[in-house]
Amino acid sequence: MPQVIGHRGAAGTHPENTMVSFRRAFELGVDGIEFDVHRTADGHLVVIHDPAVDRTTDGSGLVMAMTLEQIRALDAGSWKDPRFAGERVPTLQELVRATPPGVRLYLELKAGSVHYPGIEQELVDLLKAEGVLDRTQVSSFDHRALVKLKEICPELPLGMLTSSNLVDPVGMAKAIGCEAIHPAWPWVTPEYVEAAHAAGLKVNCWTVNDPLALALMQNAGVDGIMTDYPERLRNG
Ligand code: G3P
Ligand code: CA
Repeated sequence: MPQVIGHRGAAGTHPENTMVSFRRAFELGVDGIEFDVHRTADGHLVVIHDPAVDRTTDGSGLVMAMTLEQIRALDAGSWKDPRFAGERVPTLQELVRATPPGVRLYLELKAGSVHYPGIEQELVDLLKAEGVLDRTQVSSFDHRALVKLKEICPELPLGMLTSSNLVDPVGMAKAIGCEAIHPAWPWVTPEYVEAAHAAGLKVNCWTVNDPLALALMQNAGVDGIMTDYPERLRNG
């Protein structure tokens, strides 16, 4: 059975990237949680998917242009359902501290120094200070950020995110020094997984919600499945 990774917590039924969503994922017995990280104008790392707060809160504006105080004042739950009113955008530190020791942290850095100068070092410093380096894996579509993270902290596990049908995903991931490839699930076949495993790489696919796709990925032999509905794997 692949590792079950709650995508943005349990985002199918709960407001993505909020504490109530992550707590639901923990209740469901996930092996790991996936979540997204941006940085505020005053330098705090926060857990939110989009560069702007508009879609998932009652506010408006870019995360990078707002202070933590401004972001924490927003309601990040009501958009999903009124019963989630009052949920806040978590800080990375808050989420890390609330995650049970047995649960792995699949942290997606939405952008590195290209938009957030120095964020790679800040991230490593926070993970080290919280003592969670060994149960975190940092992934990103920003492969330059992954290279930088590897330079700063060679022991930090990395995952190479990709949404397209790359010519040589294994070669790219090895060149960066990743432990895993994170492909969009439609590109994943048993041969894809076999080639990754032969090179010593794990395959964690995203975002798999459909029951047939979940079965396809299990049959392909992936190591981890990111899903908005962890209950579909835990009950299956
Ligand atoms: O990390 C896998 C997946 O979350 C990447 O896409 O847009 O859901 O962050 P997105
Ligand atoms: Ca993500």
